[in-house]
Amino acid sequence: MSKSSRRAFISGSIASFTWLLTGGQASGAAPAITAGAPCKAKGRERTVDGVTYVCRNVKGKLVWRSTPVEVKQLVFTARVLESSELALGSTKVVNVPTPIGGTTGVVVTRTDIGITALAVACTHAGFPVARVGKVLECELHGSKFEPTTGAVLGGPAVRPLLRYDATETNGGVYVTVTNG
Ligand code: FES
Repeated sequence: MSKSSRRAFISGSIASFTWLLTGGQASGAAPAITAGAPCKAKGRERTVDGVTYVCRNVKGKLVWRSTPVEVKQLVFTARVLESSELALGSTKVVNVPTPIGGTTGVVVTRTDIGITALAVACTHAGFPVARVGKVLECELHGSKFEPTTGAVLGGPAVRPLLRYDATETNGGVYVTVTNG
């Protein structure tokens, strides 16, 4: 794998992780309180960027600890391609802008049975998959997936790719994206 694709993966992973933690909120300025930072009053609570921290005694020291993060549900439908851009038998990876900022990768495939849309992130460790021959392949550790269902054809991944609803109308391909 090239250095640039590794770099892109690492920065994408950090962005995805931030997105997950913040529920898609823009990150903004660094929080004044972070998990593990010292605090003064046991039991005191503070909320920063949607994350609530509680001052706890950990091994004799008072430090901020974050409470479990609630991941917000995200569902939206977007026109991801013009119908003419997706030939029979072809696959395209589209970076779809989300309503809360940033983009999310969607793999769109047209076959005889219709159009399938899958999340681009490999279920092993999140590296983006790409069409290689007749399968979707993850370059990082070699997992393979079936492009019309997302089913695992070869590990180390054990879970199928996340599947989205896809429709075709008015000359466009629409995908309903959800974060689970
Ligand atoms: S991240 Fe895809 S196989 Fe490991």
